[in-house]
Amino acid sequence: MTKLVYGIDVGTTKIVAIAGRVIDGRRGWVEVVSVGEAPSHGLRRGMVVDREAATESVAEAIEACGGAMRGGPVSVGIAGGHISSYNTEVTLLNRSRDRVVTERLVRRLEAEARQAAFGEDESVIHVVPRSFVLDGAEGVRQPVGLAARKATMRAHVVSGAVSTIQNLLGVVEDCGVRVSRVVLEPLASSEACLLDEDRNLGVALIDIGGGTTDIATFMRGSLTHTAVIPLGGQSFSADIAYGLKLSFGAADQLKLKYGTVISRDIDDVAAVRLGDKHYNARFISQILEYRAREVFEYARDSLDEAGVRDLLPGGAVLTGGGSLLEGMDELAEKILGMRTRIAIPRRVKGDSEPVRKPQYSTAVGLLYFSAKNDDLRPKSKGARDTSFGSIMTAVKEWFGFGV
Ligand SMILES: Nc1ncnc2c1ncn2[C@@H]1O[C@H](COP(=O)(O)OP(=O)(O)OP(=O)(O)O)[C@@H](O)[C@H]1O
Ligand SMILES: [Mg+2]
Repeated sequence: MTKLVYGIDVGTTKIVAIAGRVIDGRRGWVEVVSVGEAPSHGLRRGMVVDREAATESVAEAIEACGGAMRGGPVSVGIAGGHISSYNTEVTLLNRSRDRVVTERLVRRLEAEARQAAFGEDESVIHVVPRSFVLDGAEGVRQPVGLAARKATMRAHVVSGAVSTIQNLLGVVEDCGVRVSRVVLEPLASSEACLLDEDRNLGVALIDIGGGTTDIATFMRGSLTHTAVIPLGGQSFSADIAYGLKLSFGAADQLKLKYGTVISRDIDDVAAVRLGDKHYNARFISQILEYRAREVFEYARDSLDEAGVRDLLPGGAVLTGGGSLLEGMDELAEKILGMRTRIAIPRRVKGDSEPVRKPQYSTAVGLLYFSAKNDDLRPKSKGARDTSFGSIMTAVKEWFGFGV
């Protein structure tokens, strides 16, 4: 039986609705079967600011994707400044008579981690187990089936503001879609862009979108740190608009046509043309370089604060539309002090060629993430109800198993 999975990436500049056929759930292999896109209105940095406008945009993307996802279940990407994350650890005694750690105990540990230290206004999006300690023995990756009296789970917990999530899901629900899961966007992007080897080695994924730059780091296969920088491709265009006294639209066009962040390579007298006007190319690239440096300096500081920058031999992987400015990888390499590459969604073939671009990493990743985690999720425990209240309850309860 073919199984279909659906995703909606509600970005700052565009909404992408995507549908795929699961080839191998365990490995997260999905064939993209259709994609629809619409310009994003009514959203700012991951937050709904105009519900009606946002609903229209999402509906348009769903329509453009063929509308098939109306039956669901759909995974929705979430990002923005309201997201926070931290590492935690929880311990439980194993009461089973034969001392063997069961799936159920692991679930109780996850539930416990989900409870830890959250206010009313916060809701947990992911509890990603990083490692387990069994009776003092460190570094256990898969505890089920092993004997222990005391089990500790070390996990990375990601949470978001309840109202912000509620607003986003409300918009998607208004389009007649059944939301089954909320996924942190950089976690989704990482499924599309990274290999298990990268994640085992240690790697930082940096998704430079229109409104925000999202960071996720992985070590020994698990998510260890997440952060959001409130700057993205639109900040670059806004800077050009300000610097050259142009409209945002004209500045954006100049950026897309001639944008590079390595200003020293540009001849001082070179000019670029838009309409019947000429602009100094060096000046434009200096503006872009200045902003790009700022983004990567924030990224570097975030990795330093988390104490992970020296622990990522896999380097940095850039994705998202903002990574397409010429020279972003070179600049990132210099500022982060890490080997850097730009990634597009992996394993996309045939008719779905158009999604082989960094802008679609999140959307494609939502499919890969769903396939993998549906496969892991116990069959009996599906929260398959569709009412809004139940989705909010489910949002509070759901977690991804990570990677
Ligand atoms: N070829 C290009 N060169 C430079 N910038 C580009 C290019 N193509 C797209 N961009 C920029 O990428 C940004 C959009 O990226 P993306 O589609 O990944 O963002 P989004 O998902 O809509 O936003 P977010 O993830 O922040 O919510 C825009 O600012 C756009 O100008
Ligand atoms: Mg995005």
